[in-house]
Amino acid sequence: MKKSLTLDLSDSLLSEHRLYGYEEQLAAGEARLCSKTEKFTGWVSLPFSYNREEVDRIKAAAEEIRGKCDAFVLLGIGGSYLGARAAIEMLGGRLEKKSPTTYYAGHNLSGTYHSELLEELADKDVCLCVISKSGTTTETSIAFALLKDFLIRKYGKEEAGRRIVAITDAEKGTLREEVRKEGYKSFIVPSDIGGRYSVLSPVGLLPIAVAGIDIEEMLRGAADRAEKSEEEHLYAAVRNCLYQDGKRIEVFEYYEPRLQYFAEWLKQLFGESEGKEGKGIFPAALSFSTDLHSMGQFLQEGSPVFFETILNVVDPPGDLVVPESAGTILANKSMNQINRAALAGVMAAHRAAGISMVRIDIPSLCSYTFGQMVYYFEKACALSGYLLGVDPFDQPGVEHYKAEMRKVLEK
Ligand code: PA5
Repeated sequence: MKKSLTLDLSDSLLSEHRLYGYEEQLAAGEARLCSKTEKFTGWVSLPFSYNREEVDRIKAAAEEIRGKCDAFVLLGIGGSYLGARAAIEMLGGRLEKKSPTTYYAGHNLSGTYHSELLEELADKDVCLCVISKSGTTTETSIAFALLKDFLIRKYGKEEAGRRIVAITDAEKGTLREEVRKEGYKSFIVPSDIGGRYSVLSPVGLLPIAVAGIDIEEMLRGAADRAEKSEEEHLYAAVRNCLYQDGKRIEVFEYYEPRLQYFAEWLKQLFGESEGKEGKGIFPAALSFSTDLHSMGQFLQEGSPVFFETILNVVDPPGDLVVPESAGTILANKSMNQINRAALAGVMAAHRAAGISMVRIDIPSLCSYTFGQMVYYFEKACALSGYLLGVDPFDQPGVEHYKAEMRKVLEK
């Protein structure tokens, strides 16, 4: 039996009585999620209702790409790229020598970033995967135009077309039109799954499989997690209690740098799901011990508007013994032991400062655990949104800046 994530609330500063007061509301939320009548809840059943043929098609496409290139470019933004990047960085995709290196494009509008990327790719064998549910996102469209031109110059039109995979809506959008016209290999972004909940659909699975990560294990982890819900309910209840107590910021803290993009995905998941109608907890992320030397002061003594959610990796994949020359209290200890001491020390100091802390123990950094983590936070986030009284699956505010930007460009 594989180990599960575990939630430790002993430092939440909340009574069981308060937490269990949410039981009825959470059961109702769970029923809504599983009802199959709520919009954009296709992700709920995804891990255990996956179309076998599609998984096989994803694996075959990934193998073909792996055999063809040493540079794989993932083009997308927000929900169309963060989940895959979170998995690839967390599971050390870049360290797996046989896999192509994954590069990212279309997640910003920087001419500097994209010109440097094209330079970097010049002498590499390149394939690309463009992901956009709407098929019209500016950042992704620009990067796709640039990289497609680059491929055509490098390989000619026909071979360039064979090196492109598109993941987009089944019917709508200019990207789907182009797929029809040019005959690119393609996958569908399910219409009942929004970007930030799409990691376990082709949106995440294809680029993750290209990085050499076991997507079957990932789906198994998510499916096993889907059978449980008590901890997700408790975590949603904690967040709501702390929000009621005036905490407006949740700081996700991690001690393994490989979790950086998982935290970025969490920021999107919670930020877009809850931040609306003048409500919501602002999600922030800090990398420890690095950020203890910049933000540690604020956490310890600053304005008490936040609570902390610690993502604790119990058994990290690598370790080193510290040499004699580091001095008596450090010498001959393992780095992981010292990292654990940092976590214990920070928690003791923050306990003394009266900060509410939630700790989520992540057994190890493997694809099974990644699948669990995705499902765990998706469920907790959706339920948190229901408790808050907002729709956790829309993002009306994201459109505003796009309309304003279009006005500026049209001038
Ligand atoms: O979660 C979301 O809905 C957004 O972050 C989108 O994924 C992002 O804006 C990209 O949209 P699209 O996939 O349509 O290009």
